[in-house]
Amino acid sequence: VDLSSLLNIEDIEAAATPRLRKKAWAYYYSAGDDLMSKQLNNTVYRQILLRPRIFVDCTNCDTSTTFLGHKVNLPIYVSPAAMARLAHPAGENGIAKAAAKYGALQVISNNASQTPEDIVKDSAPGQIFGWQLYVQTNRAKSEKMIARINKLAQIKFIALTLDAPVPGKREHDERSKNIGSNLPVKAAVQSESGSTASTSTAPNTGAATSGSSAPDAPGSGGVGVALFAGTAPDLTWQTTLPWLAKHTKLPIVLKGVQTHEDAYIASQYAPQVKAIILSNHGGRALDTAPPAVHTLLEIRKYCPEVFDRIEVWVDGGIKRGTDVVKALCLGAKGVGIGRPPLFALGAGGIEGVERVFEILKAETETCMRLLGAEKVEDLGMHHINVRAVERD
Ligand code: FNR
Repeated sequence: VDLSSLLNIEDIEAAATPRLRKKAWAYYYSAGDDLMSKQLNNTVYRQILLRPRIFVDCTNCDTSTTFLGHKVNLPIYVSPAAMARLAHPAGENGIAKAAAKYGALQVISNNASQTPEDIVKDSAPGQIFGWQLYVQTNRAKSEKMIARINKLAQIKFIALTLDAPVPGKREHDERSKNIGSNLPVKAAVQSESGSTASTSTAPNTGAATSGSSAPDAPGSGGVGVALFAGTAPDLTWQTTLPWLAKHTKLPIVLKGVQTHEDAYIASQYAPQVKAIILSNHGGRALDTAPPAVHTLLEIRKYCPEVFDRIEVWVDGGIKRGTDVVKALCLGAKGVGIGRPPLFALGAGGIEGVERVFEILKAETETCMRLLGAEKVEDLGMHHINVRAVERD
């Protein structure tokens, strides 16, 4: 593909679609039940109107910010998303190279198709990562992984995902389970010790992604269901955070907060919990769960002090620079992108992912300039009209 002909994030997804294996496409595209939350994620930002000011000098525009005190060039980070090698052999390490070029944070999935050591190994000076944890029923497995993460200096926090204690019902993924051959991760994955192994499992959890117990097997529910085997459904405020504190000193980010009540409780766990991510898992868990914009508005209304105690990040449906800016105006510290880097790998490998950052950075800058904001800290509620999305 001529990447310069792809002008926006939708173009990139469209270019990737015929290039990806049907099964990989279905896994990436899929969402819960009727895709209502995914569609809401994709449309809610469009209902928020911008309020541009005139006579503001916009010669300079600075998109840099910080996450948990670490400087980044963009308020846009890579959300943890499993199995990047289904799209391209460069995998998550390839995404890291593109993120490095744009000075962006990357959160590595617990179910990445490469080991965290391999993903961070050629990182640029100052490049930072987070690591996302799905606590395993076999706690010893998670404890071993956390010990490995503690040793990687580039990894600055652990994002504990809480919105998917079980996988959502993803019918695109399930329907594609009998299409084609086993997933193309064979021999590409690494064993738990970090050495190359010719297995067909997710390297960091051991979940089978091919073979007789894999999603190709009749009666299985697709890639998502296979990856969730072993994920613990019994996490609680009372038990899980103390357990984590025993095994890591890294700050904890809670991913998948969807109500103001949980945002408030999370903020009470500061300083161990340093941030929350308002997310409905890209619509892939509970369908008709709210988009992050609704949760942001709830927090603003019922417990705005949360923004002072912890950082609030959001993800889901970010496709335009205007989406990024609107989320920041509502109080988000930054926004995550899940599907765009995966589809971009499919469309054009590492350069495809670079193109995603190039497009979103340029769109964000254009939006800030036209709005009359020189830097990220200038953005606020005065720049937006949210009447059309207010719920109560
Ligand atoms: C995800 N997501 C996800 N989240 C997580 O905490 N751990 C994971 O392993 C995954 N895996 C995963 C795979 C794929 C294919 C997708 C699309 C998503 C959810 C992800 O972090 C994020 O919340 C959403 O993807 C954000 O929505 P958008 O940007 O895809 O609209």
